[in-house]
Amino acid sequence: MFNKRIKIKELLSLEPNNQQVTVMGWVRTFRNNQFIALNDGSTNTNLQVVVELGKYGDVFLKGITTSAALKVSGVVIPSLGKGQKLELRSEQIEILGESDPEKYPLQPKKHSLEFLREIAHLRFRTNTFGAVFRVRHTLGFAVHKFFNDKGFLYLQTPIITASDAEGAGEMFRVTTLPLENLPKNEDGSINFKEDFFGRGTNLTVSGQLEGELAATSFGDIYTFGPTFRAENSNTPRHLAEFWMIEPEMAFYDLEDNANLAEEFIKYIIRYAIDNSSDDLEFLAQRLADEEKQLPQEKRSEMGLVEKLEFVLNNNFERLTYTEAISILQESNHNKKKRFQFPITGWGMDLQSEHERYLVEKHFRKPVILTNYPREIKAFYMRQNDDGKTVAAMDILAPGIGEIVGGSQREERLEKLEQRMKEMNVPVDQLWWYLDTRRFGTVPHAGFGLGFERMVQFVTGMNNIRDVIAFPRAPKSADF
Ligand code: 4AD
Ligand code: MG
Repeated sequence: MFNKRIKIKELLSLEPNNQQVTVMGWVRTFRNNQFIALNDGSTNTNLQVVVELGKYGDVFLKGITTSAALKVSGVVIPSLGKGQKLELRSEQIEILGESDPEKYPLQPKKHSLEFLREIAHLRFRTNTFGAVFRVRHTLGFAVHKFFNDKGFLYLQTPIITASDAEGAGEMFRVTTLPLENLPKNEDGSINFKEDFFGRGTNLTVSGQLEGELAATSFGDIYTFGPTFRAENSNTPRHLAEFWMIEPEMAFYDLEDNANLAEEFIKYIIRYAIDNSSDDLEFLAQRLADEEKQLPQEKRSEMGLVEKLEFVLNNNFERLTYTEAISILQESNHNKKKRFQFPITGWGMDLQSEHERYLVEKHFRKPVILTNYPREIKAFYMRQNDDGKTVAAMDILAPGIGEIVGGSQREERLEKLEQRMKEMNVPVDQLWWYLDTRRFGTVPHAGFGLGFERMVQFVTGMNNIRDVIAFPRAPKSADF
């Protein structure tokens, strides 16, 4: 049988006792025609395979190059060398796939993250990306476990939609109309009746509106899927295609919502620490090495794992937008005109530098900001009695900025319709959404966690393009 192999992670946990095993993986290095470091992706730790001297001819040994794929059968024995408890004394080596060392772009040395982005199809084979994507996997699993254990229903919302859930107009169009010869109406506008769906459609920016439909039947639901934003933001925090987790809960107010979000974030961090500790240790070391090149004042005060433990052990700071504005206004940073965007006063939207000041300089921990001015938030957020603010909440994380956006929803039909009209959100097209307010409306709330931003926070990776396998960003859609 071809596939009777043991994964290296499991093998490394054994007590060496002359077990007969078969492993398969890719060569990381080959030293002295004798020691192969073999990796199969199950762990960052390589297996040392010992090649019996004199058993193989030169031609065969020359085929054991970096990234060649091997099948090795042999015996597990205690290692005499330093750095590993066991090794595999090979009895039979088969080269499954060769790798031409002249052409293979990854050398056993440190490559820049920028260079690796250009060869994203091979970067999984590096230690850094191996660790990042195993941690990403663990976090994704923890998301499902958290909600499943709480009795939430996993809802898959559509990727192609006709609505703009955020009302921000940052959508990618979906069409089969010929771009070079668009069918027109008499008034010159495009005739979408001839399009595939008989109407204009786009890629979803959020599954929230559909999530609300399900929450008002099942009570508690969550989505976990790709979302798309055609915002021209070329930053280390933005992607054009990113994954979002959107829980939506009936019978929840803003405070319940904030409590769930904090519990959720802490749960998945704890899960990663408990289940991906070796990869996190590796990433912590990587970050520490990287920061050694920075001037002292730019280095993090805490190591990666220390930072995660700190987040787990402290309550998130909760304050209103109004309180945040006065903190920012009074700050020396503002008085000394150090913000690129000065604090102009109540009503302004917060820039990421302001959010980061609050979490990194002022509170030094995650912050939940609530009750934003309604003018800078989406139409569906519940209007507060003051007539100025809505029951919104954003969670801001050190080094990242906004990681969660959410709110209590406007469950009162008239108020919602009025706000939609004021904000030019098409009331008639969203008839199905408004039906939830007509038939058994209830207080409800939800939020969206940007999965890649969460992965960044946990792995310490600076650029969001390094925590998603094949990033989509302005002018960039390779692979
Ligand atoms: O704040 P946003 O736009 O909120 C919503 O979409 C709501 N419908 C969520 C809800 O209440 N159900 O996005 C939510 C989160 C942000 O806080 C951020 O973490 C992430 O999604 N996000 C992005 N991540 C990467 N690239 C982008 N372009 C992102 N835009 C938002
Ligand atoms: Mg937001």
